[in-house]
Amino acid sequence: MNPPTIRWAIIGPGSIARTFAAALPMVAGAELVAVASRDLARAQAFASKHQARLAVDSIAAVAEADDIDAVYVATPHPHHCAPALTCLAAGKAVLVEKPLALNAAQVGSLIAASHRHRAFLMEAMWTRFLPAWRTAAEWIHTGRIGEPRLVSADFGFRCGWDPHSRLLDPALAGGALLDVGVYTLAAANAVFPGPPLGVAGFAHLGATGVDEQSVAVLSWPGGRLARLAAAVRTATAGDCRIDGTEGSIHLPQFWRATRATWTSGDKSEIFDGPHESNGFEYQIREVHRCLADGLIESPVMPHADSLTIAGVMDALRRQWGLRYPGEDGTASS
Ligand SMILES: NC(=O)c1ccc[n+]([C@@H]2O[C@H](COP(=O)([O-])OP(=O)(O)OC[C@H]3O[C@@H](n4cnc5c(N)ncnc54)[C@H](OP(=O)(O)O)[C@@H]3O)[C@@H](O)[C@H]2O)c1
Repeated sequence: MNPPTIRWAIIGPGSIARTFAAALPMVAGAELVAVASRDLARAQAFASKHQARLAVDSIAAVAEADDIDAVYVATPHPHHCAPALTCLAAGKAVLVEKPLALNAAQVGSLIAASHRHRAFLMEAMWTRFLPAWRTAAEWIHTGRIGEPRLVSADFGFRCGWDPHSRLLDPALAGGALLDVGVYTLAAANAVFPGPPLGVAGFAHLGATGVDEQSVAVLSWPGGRLARLAAAVRTATAGDCRIDGTEGSIHLPQFWRATRATWTSGDKSEIFDGPHESNGFEYQIREVHRCLADGLIESPVMPHADSLTIAGVMDALRRQWGLRYPGEDGTASS
């Protein structure tokens, strides 16, 4: 039996939207039908390149279109919440780029809207759906490393110096934590679900005032710990290690992992799982699966995990004195 068609719209046809559009044809039943931009010509150019029949220059037009089932929000961080709320209110399924929103207050409002309108909502934490991570999760679940005790993860790269870029401009919620630190937090959260007991971090706030690099330490009951680093002006290895009482798991380039290695004493096993497309296909399939099952959240990347992660980012930013211009639902309240 053919899977039901899910008709997608993209909001924000920029850099990551191109990755999403490239993966979509790999998913059975997925169809790109609409593209929304602040500029109609940009929407038309993207729609024409990816054979979408509708190009619009407003979020309302996406929300009002009857022939759209699911919306992918791919705008910069401060512009996730408003379009997602509008689309949820119209009953669309919404997949929002990471981080789900600017802060926990906004994430809470999105979750409330998802429940109110019985509309699916998920943070596009694509890493979690990669075969290497699914394998690592299975190894943990089946006790292959005993009790997980320590998660170590880093994600850093060196961007060019452009104070007006999405990565460095405070008005676009630039900085390492929300852009790449969120992956390290999601990795720790996948192993130790639930809010941490303690959160402590240091950040270097650069010339534009955003966190160019940071280190965070998190603790959970029972002495479980995570040490996480994020950077946008310093390249790091991008490793994740999960150490347990009986063994360890290592995921090189963990945020786009294609390999997971399990080690216990002198025994080891390597899982190699190259992406079928660019890796986004797995999260898109998860959306389709959840919609087919009538779910409003994914059991793999549930609302509660996004809220926990946003709460930790708020806590770290409070410690660093980092707020974005015009931020409401403040990180410091
Ligand atoms: N999953 C991943 O691997 C990954 C990688 C990179 C980024 N991301 C996430 O994807 C999101 C977008 O990142 P990106 O690098 O694709 O950004 P981008 O290319 O700078 O922007 C994406 C699009 O958003 C719209 N936009 C830009 N500035 C805006 C503003 N001030 N207000 C409203 N819309 C605006 C633009 O479209 P129009 O002007 O045409 O409307 C732009 O093309 C971010 O949340 C980022 O964290 C994810």
